[in-house]
Amino acid sequence: MPTSSKMVEGAVSIRRPPHAGGDGVSAEDDGGDETADKSKTRKHISVAMRITNYLTRTGYMWPVLIMALAIVIICSLVVHLRDLVCISASSSDHISRLFDGLESDFGALGVPWCRSKHGETVEWTSEDLLKGLEEFMPIYETRPIKNNTYGMGFDHSFGLWFITRWLKPDLMIESGAFKGHSTWVLRQAMPDTPILSLSPRHPEKYLKKGPAYVDGNCAYFAGKDFVDFGSMDWVRVLEKHGIKDRSRVLVFFDDHQNELKRLKQAVKAGFQHLVFEDNYDTGTGDHYSFRQICDQFYIRGGGHSCFKDSDEARIRFKRKKFWSKAVDIAELCGLGEAWWGVRGSMRDNFNHSNKEITYAEHFQNSRFVESVLDVYWELPPVAGPSLTHQTRYDPARAPNPIVQDGRYGLFQRLGLSRLDPSVFNGYTQMVYLQVSEQET
Ligand SMILES: C[S@@+](CC[C@H](N)C(=O)[O-])C[C@H]1O[C@@H](n2cnc3c(N)ncnc32)[C@H](O)[C@@H]1O
Repeated sequence: MPTSSKMVEGAVSIRRPPHAGGDGVSAEDDGGDETADKSKTRKHISVAMRITNYLTRTGYMWPVLIMALAIVIICSLVVHLRDLVCISASSSDHISRLFDGLESDFGALGVPWCRSKHGETVEWTSEDLLKGLEEFMPIYETRPIKNNTYGMGFDHSFGLWFITRWLKPDLMIESGAFKGHSTWVLRQAMPDTPILSLSPRHPEKYLKKGPAYVDGNCAYFAGKDFVDFGSMDWVRVLEKHGIKDRSRVLVFFDDHQNELKRLKQAVKAGFQHLVFEDNYDTGTGDHYSFRQICDQFYIRGGGHSCFKDSDEARIRFKRKKFWSKAVDIAELCGLGEAWWGVRGSMRDNFNHSNKEITYAEHFQNSRFVESVLDVYWELPPVAGPSLTHQTRYDPARAPNPIVQDGRYGLFQRLGLSRLDPSVFNGYTQMVYLQVSEQET
């Protein structure tokens, strides 16, 4: 078990965020060792040289060259045929998405990313994520709730499991349980750690209609005992659970509340490790999110123009045809060309509350967020859309996937091809925040 400072230090190192550095999984992830490979190549060169010399001397060089050429032609034909088989298995719509929807000048424009105070990011690498994926896949297959529509799909289940297991908290708090799938994910990551779950409806209520998960080591603030995260007496509750060090607590929010409100409540309660499930892109979603808050003119890819003849308008219009959650300029911009949040408003509580804010307020919100953030890290999608066949989120608005397009062998080896494609449709940039310790 790491100590409290280790939980903080263990999660952080100074690295450039994926958008800045291109954090994709390289070919080495297939198990290659670069140093070993280089020495092997050197040995092969000297043996090859000797064989070449021998063949040249004995006059057998030409037949060998012709045979090598034939092998190259056959191999390239096999690779080409495999591609044709993959493509013919897809719908024509999917093919056009592959060719037109993936290549993006939108991605080149950049995607907003919240700045942390000292430019720190997480310690884990894309290789760690890949190893985690391999481990998580068989766990996910045992999930009790197979159909979790309105709850987390595969990407975010993996993200929550991975982050939790990496941080190894002493207590896990969840706000927004629904049928209990995320409670089950937390339990898989930490088999013996207590959970507090806050949700207006108790997950056991869903058991009457079908699969649900109720955890034996979880205190439920649900049903008639429901208390909102912002109204909880955290001093009393944490004392009751023997928690002295709040930096050892992980809080997971999937309650569709204004994330600025939740951040302020979490900071006030002294929590430092926060995961937000739905970190909606600007112009989308039912609550104000960090993606939206950090979308500012001074951030690369941030700030928007509502000018109908702009490059952005043209690109958005085109991409909306391929990705159902993409928004064009008409949807992005509200009255007075207000593009921030969702058409200039700060949504809350599943969009039951909706307050218009000025750009000045929106700007101040980002300054507040930046002033408390030590780390901001968005979970990448597990795999590219040509592999998962997801059709909702625009890949140009997300970090590079863990398994990149074109790596079908890896996708299959990890067992991801066995999953129903619908489980890859719910990605919304889940984010992990590390908040700096506040002076009390
Ligand atoms: C999207 S669902 C959660 C899905 C769940 N985490 C999963 O992975 O399956 C949102 C949940 O938030 C609950 N909710 C609504 N208002 C809430 C609040 N103020 N605090 C906590 N949960 C709330 C809803 O009742 C619903 O169960």
